[in-house]
Amino acid sequence: MKIIEAKHFDDMSLKAAQFMIEKVQRDPTITLGLATGGTPQKMYELLINDHRINGTSYHQVTTFNLDEYIGLDRHDPNSYYTYMHKALFDHIDIRDEQAFLPNGTASNLNAECERYEALIRQHGGIDLQVLGIGANGHIGFNEPGTSFESSTHIVKLTESTREANARYFNDLSEVPTEAITMGIQSIMNAKEILLLASGKKKADALYQLIHGKVDESFPASVLQRHEQVTIIADREALQKVAVSSN
Ligand code: GLP
Repeated sequence: MKIIEAKHFDDMSLKAAQFMIEKVQRDPTITLGLATGGTPQKMYELLINDHRINGTSYHQVTTFNLDEYIGLDRHDPNSYYTYMHKALFDHIDIRDEQAFLPNGTASNLNAECERYEALIRQHGGIDLQVLGIGANGHIGFNEPGTSFESSTHIVKLTESTREANARYFNDLSEVPTEAITMGIQSIMNAKEILLLASGKKKADALYQLIHGKVDESFPASVLQRHEQVTIIADREALQKVAVSSN
């Protein structure tokens, strides 16, 4: 695991954007796994700026998002489809048909999970997966207790995750209770992983991710078994972790 310490949120976002841009420039046909949430938002802004100023192209890039709420229409302002389009896709030259998210309103949700997993395989797998982390160690929407062998599946969201995400909705009651998420195994299949974290709310989670026991009760701990993980996190998030280099 490589740990890069950033000064603060903006610095984390800059370092993360530089990391991503380098990967896309080196391999313009890269397949990216993308995350939502507050953490990568500024990084996406910086990717847009770079696209405008330096012309980094996403025309041949394919993306797969980690997760989507069940029951929200894709045009709902809180769907991850809308999030991704507003935060990134509408502002770069990615082809719409190459930017994939699970469909949370599919009539057969189990079939949708299988379709999504197969689609990732058909595209040769994910080259670089971006992750955030939930305070309870969730990655994607893989809540504590999720099998490390899981592929794309339906999850019931924990109350703590619903409460954490309620800030985007008018009211907690509007936050969906279920989601489709790539599984732990789907995430681990990515050739490389970039995990971002910012703020003291993530300090315990980062400590456990890096130094804790590898156990399904803390999903992110599985990343200790992946050979290509880079963590870019700010000082507040890393306050419980001793970072030796950088
Ligand atoms: C959400 C998302 C995750 C995200 C996490 C942290 O529930 N499903 O993909 O990494 O929670 O979110 P934030 O970055 O807003 O702290």
